Amino acid sequence: MKNLYELHHYESPTRMVHGINILPQLPAEVSRLGIKRPLLVTLPPMIACGLVAKVEAPLKAAGIDYVIFDGIHGEPTCEDIADGSKTYRENGCDGFIAVGGGAAIDSAKAIGVEIAEGGPVLDYECAEGKKPLSKRIPPLVAIPTTAGTGSEVTLWAVIKDTKREYKFNVGGVEMAAHVAFIDPTLQTSLPADFTAGTGMDALCHAIECYTCAYAQPITDCYALYAIELAGKYLRRAVACGSDLEARYGMALCAMFAGATYGTDSAGAVHALTQTLGGIFPIPHGKAVAATLVPVMEFNWMGEPGKYKRIAEALGEDTTGLTESEGAKLAVEAVHKLASDIGIKSIATFGVTEDDIPRLAQAAFDDPQTIGNPRDLTVDDYVRIYQRALTIQY
Ligand SMILES: [Fe+2]
Repeated sequence: MKNLYELHHYESPTRMVHGINILPQLPAEVSRLGIKRPLLVTLPPMIACGLVAKVEAPLKAAGIDYVIFDGIHGEPTCEDIADGSKTYRENGCDGFIAVGGGAAIDSAKAIGVEIAEGGPVLDYECAEGKKPLSKRIPPLVAIPTTAGTGSEVTLWAVIKDTKREYKFNVGGVEMAAHVAFIDPTLQTSLPADFTAGTGMDALCHAIECYTCAYAQPITDCYALYAIELAGKYLRRAVACGSDLEARYGMALCAMFAGATYGTDSAGAVHALTQTLGGIFPIPHGKAVAATLVPVMEFNWMGEPGKYKRIAEALGEDTTGLTESEGAKLAVEAVHKLASDIGIKSIATFGVTEDDIPRLAQAAFDDPQTIGNPRDLTVDDYVRIYQRALTIQY
């Protein structure tokens, strides 16, 4: 353990509620938090596919007077968040229900920051010279419709600053959801390619947080079980969307993987993909899925013992293997998983060799480069990007 002599702590203010067909329990969770008029934060596709209607039904039956805000355009921007804050104030809301993937839940958290702190969310970016969070956001019930970001339990939100073409982090215990409300029946209609991308994002959170410099025993427990669940259920969830056991397994995988973040950040994959996503309109999960193996190929020798444990958690037989052989088996296992579920390289999203110098520098400058299990230079990121362009799945 690289940080053996440091003080560690783990904190989560989130009540985790999960089960199959638990939507009838939603009004009780909302009322328990004292919310009378929630802002239901979502995205237009969630309304179009009928998922929001499923959440609305028990709220209507219980007479809860909610207001819908669906002004998030893909991945949330500072402007989207300001619109959400205006809607919240104009309608006299007193809490949130977020319905969607990371974009919806991160948006509710960020609107909550603006309501609690009174200033724009950009003022609270995790960066030098910006302000730390000082006040708890209004009560938030997060209902994930994907098994990926784990935003329902993380202390983080990722928001895009369109002026800088940059996705920034906001974080702190103050902005965590009050309730993570996880019902896998809301995830069965997710298309196979998004199931694959978001599932790889969850697996990546677990692998990065398990092997980064901030890893500690409490988050290691969450990480190893999340990796085991991804190994067991991701192929099944992609192959058959209505496989409820697999969806439940992946929903828990995403939640545990989100919990591995604790108060810290991830590693090189997230440094690469947050900066990539600020410049190219690639969904976060698909970007992570496309770059996880190239980063693992680079990183394994920084934490060979833990990489060998990853191989074992994924169901590989490491009997008789050396630490290095077992570590390389983890990389192969994730490559095999990515191939089986149809992951595409970043070239399919329009990234070219000419883009690499800018992308590599941006990744190097991202705060998540610090803590990666193997030291990184800009040239290393160039080589990782080159590999990510040409890799075959
Ligand atoms: Fe992620």
